[in-house]
Amino acid sequence: MDGNSPAIFSTYGERGTFDLGRALGTFLTLPFCVGLRGPLGVGKTVMVKGIADGLGISDTVTSPTYTFCREYRDGDRKLTHIDLYRIDNVDDLESIGWLDLVLEADILVVEWIERAAEYLPRDWIEVELALAGGDKRSATLCSHGADSRQILTRLKTRYVGHR
Ligand SMILES: Nc1ncnc2c1ncn2[C@@H]1O[C@H](COP(=O)(O)OP(=O)(O)OP(=O)(O)O)[C@@H](O)[C@H]1O
Ligand SMILES: [Mg+2]
Repeated sequence: MDGNSPAIFSTYGERGTFDLGRALGTFLTLPFCVGLRGPLGVGKTVMVKGIADGLGISDTVTSPTYTFCREYRDGDRKLTHIDLYRIDNVDDLESIGWLDLVLEADILVVEWIERAAEYLPRDWIEVELALAGGDKRSATLCSHGADSRQILTRLKTRYVGHR
C-alpha cells in the first residue's frame, strides 16, 4: 500500500463513523485541514464529532449549517468547523472570510468542501462519505499534500476498523 493510494473504510452505524473520525483526529498534526464530501445526512457532522473527540476536545460539536463556522478549543488546540452547504459562489466565500479562516485555523474541518473547489488549502485530507445501504457508509480518504500523506499512512497502518 503506497502513501498516495486512498484509504477506504466501511463504517457501520453512527458509532463506526465517529470512531473512524476519532482515529483520524488522534493522528492530526497542527495546522491541518480535513474536507468532507457526501450527500445530505450521510454522516459528515458525525465524523467531525469523532475528529473533535480524537483531538481531545470535550465540547459538544453541533452542525454549523446556519452559522457557517464554529470554533472549539482545548488548551492550545483549536478546531474550526465550517459548513459550506449554503455557499453558492466566490462572493459568498469571501463574505465568510474563507481565505483568512484557511490561513488562521489550526485544525480546519469543512463540510461540503466541494463548494470551495477553487480555493482549497495547500495540504488537506479529503474524506468522501457515501451511503452503502442501511446504516453502512463507505469512507474514502485521499491525501493532497505531504503532511496529509503521512497522516493517512499512519491511519492506514494503525486504525483497526472495517476496511
Ligand atoms: N454509518 C453511519 N455513519 C454516520 N451516520 C450514520 C450512519 N448510519 C446512520 N447514520 C445516521 O445518519 C445521520 C448523519 O447525520 P449528519 O448530520 O452527520 O449528516 P451530514 O452528512 O453532516 O448532513 P448535512 O449534509 O445535512 O450536514 C445521523 O442521523 C446518524 O445517526
Ligand atoms: Mg452536517
